[in-house]
Amino acid sequence: MEYKSELIINTAKELKSKLSEASDKRAVLRAPELVALYDHLKTLPAGQPRAEFGREVNALKAELEKLIREAGQPKIEMEPIDITAPFDVNVAPADRPDLLPAETGSQHPLTTELAIILDIFARMGFTAVESRELDDDYHMFTSLNFPPEHPARDDYDTFVTDEGLIAPAHTSTMQNRVLLAGKGDLEAGKGIRAVIPGRVFRNEDIDARHEHTFTQLEGVYVDRGINAGHLVATIRAWLSSYYQRDIDIKIQPFYFPFTEPSFEFAASCPFCAGTGCNVCSHTGWIELGGCGMIHPNVLKEADIDSNEFSGFAWGFGIERLVMLKYGIEDIRHFHSGNLKFLRQFA
Ligand code: DAH
Repeated sequence: MEYKSELIINTAKELKSKLSEASDKRAVLRAPELVALYDHLKTLPAGQPRAEFGREVNALKAELEKLIREAGQPKIEMEPIDITAPFDVNVAPADRPDLLPAETGSQHPLTTELAIILDIFARMGFTAVESRELDDDYHMFTSLNFPPEHPARDDYDTFVTDEGLIAPAHTSTMQNRVLLAGKGDLEAGKGIRAVIPGRVFRNEDIDARHEHTFTQLEGVYVDRGINAGHLVATIRAWLSSYYQRDIDIKIQPFYFPFTEPSFEFAASCPFCAGTGCNVCSHTGWIELGGCGMIHPNVLKEADIDSNEFSGFAWGFGIERLVMLKYGIEDIRHFHSGNLKFLRQFA
């Protein structure tokens, strides 16, 4: 920049020569000559002269900062990285430093177990449908018989985006879609049988049994003449198949707006055989989730005649099931990225 003020032209010269000699170049920005310019600025009459001088002082400071940056550029000889170089699948030999070491990865235990669980359900006639990681108020609440302002909405401390979308707090968000898609099948005399795995998100206090992000498996079964006996039998059958033994289960009344009656479902704790430990919060039982007979309003919302058809549904946490199977004492291991944990399933 061409400076017009005599004072600035002279100070610029002085400061640039100081800068070329200084070992601490940034100190020039605190030099008395520069400070004097700012002091002088304050004495000028407001308006055109002060504005003009202020612009020039700022320009000088910017010029000095640029010179300091350029002077400080480190001159490092960088070894180029060849990203196309082959990986050594074991350990790179000492004489081949050009081979990048690599380890063989493995499937996450949740992925492996989910495949096993879905396979059991496939053999029981259930189709798997994926849930979404972002959904809307209608599917999270309204379609599930939570009227607007219903207090039960507060039971789910949901994460909401600025646009009003919801990170689903349960996989029940998919019920209305599954019912709508299966309506034709129902009328053709085939029941609706779907399982819906998906990640769910909650504003939880985190501990050995609670995570803010976990995996649920929703189940939906609708046909003619379905009752709670079918619900209990189905859950028992698949749990016993998953654990390869008879599992003690406990179902007790609960409340969900989308089922009537609603139940809470628990399996006996395998760690302490029911005597009470850290995993089961000293209750002897591990709560797996909720279930119940689908509320007529939920069927109606999917245009299904609740006088003709009935059904049951459930939502269980997958992590809990896997913890029970392998004796994992803390749910936080799953998302920890801890290789010591993951390698046990490799
Ligand atoms: N969506 C419930 C929850 O996450 C669990 C649940 C309960 C799902 C009952 C259902 C059901 O499908 O029928 O808290």
